[in-house]
Amino acid sequence: MIAIKNERELSRMRQACKITAAARALAGAMVKPGITTKQIDQAVHDYIVSQGARPSFLNYNGYPASACISVNGTVIHGIPGDYVLKDGDIVSIDVGAHYLGFHGDCAATFPCGTVSAEAERLINVTKQSFFEGIRFATRGHRVSDISHAIQTYVESNGYSVVRSFVGHGVGAQLHEEPEVPNFGAPGRGPRLIPGMTLAIEPMVNEGVHDVRVLKDGWTTVTADGKLSAHYENTVLITDGEPEILTVTEGL
Ligand code: MF3
Ligand code: CO
Repeated sequence: MIAIKNERELSRMRQACKITAAARALAGAMVKPGITTKQIDQAVHDYIVSQGARPSFLNYNGYPASACISVNGTVIHGIPGDYVLKDGDIVSIDVGAHYLGFHGDCAATFPCGTVSAEAERLINVTKQSFFEGIRFATRGHRVSDISHAIQTYVESNGYSVVRSFVGHGVGAQLHEEPEVPNFGAPGRGPRLIPGMTLAIEPMVNEGVHDVRVLKDGWTTVTADGKLSAHYENTVLITDGEPEILTVTEGL
């Protein structure tokens, strides 16, 4: 069952998503050589709590932090720690906030200092693939129309999409139906209906699409050690254009 949110629920979700997006922006602004990933996580935690919200990821299936911070060849679910960011790193930051009964979920990859032209291109293609995908996030299309558009754009730029992790419905639960893969043939999966809220989140690898989960059970790295980037927003299907809920004012 895919939850269709009514206006009352959407107003709460918009507020949760606004906090989430602001947390992403403040974390991104902290990405500089010399800071530890743990310091960024602490700031994300403190900001979310200061807004009267709760970090969605903290203790989710035992996850030990508020943000996932994934550097260079780490794709997703990097656990913040004592690693000191250095010039040239690319840093994926994924955050979630739970507020008034609803979750927001969003991520982006930020350059630390000056990064290589190739790293910058990977970041830009990953972000743009999200926007290619949501061209199909309109009523009447099917979920895999989004997936197909993302994959086509990414692969036409010489990169690969991660297969073993996917986007998802988001709302009262962090992970709801449907799954939103970043690959696949068009015309499959549920038809999109106004009131659906989806976390659309391409994970894009510079090399092969294969990934490996480290012994900590979370940290997911590229199988070939090459770079990976991530971009995610919580998106509402409407009667017209999709509405990106994880947006920031000012920041
Ligand atoms: N944005 C990720 C997701 O949607 C973050 C989950 S991390 C976890 O799956 F720690 F909460 F699992
Ligand atoms: Co997500």
